[in-house]
Amino acid sequence: MKKTSFTTLILAGSLVSAGPALAQTPQNAAPMPAEMQQMMKTYTPEMRQKAMALSPELKATIQQLHAGHPRRAKETTLRQIMHEILSEYQSIASALATDNAEQAAEAARRLASHRIPKGGLLPYFSLDKVNNNDLGVLPAMNTAVEGSALKLAEAADAGDMPRAAAYMSDIMTGCVACHQKFRGTPGISANLMSPASK
Ligand code: HEC
Repeated sequence: MKKTSFTTLILAGSLVSAGPALAQTPQNAAPMPAEMQQMMKTYTPEMRQKAMALSPELKATIQQLHAGHPRRAKETTLRQIMHEILSEYQSIASALATDNAEQAAEAARRLASHRIPKGGLLPYFSLDKVNNNDLGVLPAMNTAVEGSALKLAEAADAGDMPRAAAYMSDIMTGCVACHQKFRGTPGISANLMSPASK
């Protein structure tokens, strides 16, 4: 996987957003954007503390990412949104394989304009990942996935299907990179013996 490509990527996508309103900010904590403040009311104290402690830059990044995704889910979780994104990716693949430029462009734009899950992105990450370092990669991930999807849509609009197809691997590189960092292993069974107790 070409990790270097991330460094050239620009900011896009998002988590949380809006205004410079201040809440009860603990020592060292940067001001919290208004929407993030609202979302944080729904977080556990542990998650809230982690979110409050993020740097001003990271909070601004999250706000920017959020602003790039104006649609908000009511109840949908991140995992469900991810499944929607996967469906769009598969739809793009199907469209490319069948030379359907309009389907490819539409699905790619839907992929890029997914809703923000209930509560934002943060509560779906493990507590130990909610820090400036780990979350700092989000813009790069977003650009890899959504930036490439939008480029794919443009190429499809222009009727350049080979170029559109080439963006599929850039998109998947972003999916894979983000999963390696943040996804964990959903769906682990409590009814299996762990390897340690074999
Ligand atoms: C911002 C980081 C990030 C990006 C980018 C990302 N994912 Fe995910 N994805 C996650 C996280 C975190 C989870 C685990 C969510 C959970 O279980 O609550 C996840 C879970 C999923 C799931 C749920 C099923 C499973 O086995 O975990 C699917 C499907 C999925 N992602 C598909 C994709 C696809 C396809 C892409 C690229 C087009 C993508 N994701 C890009 C972070 C990301």
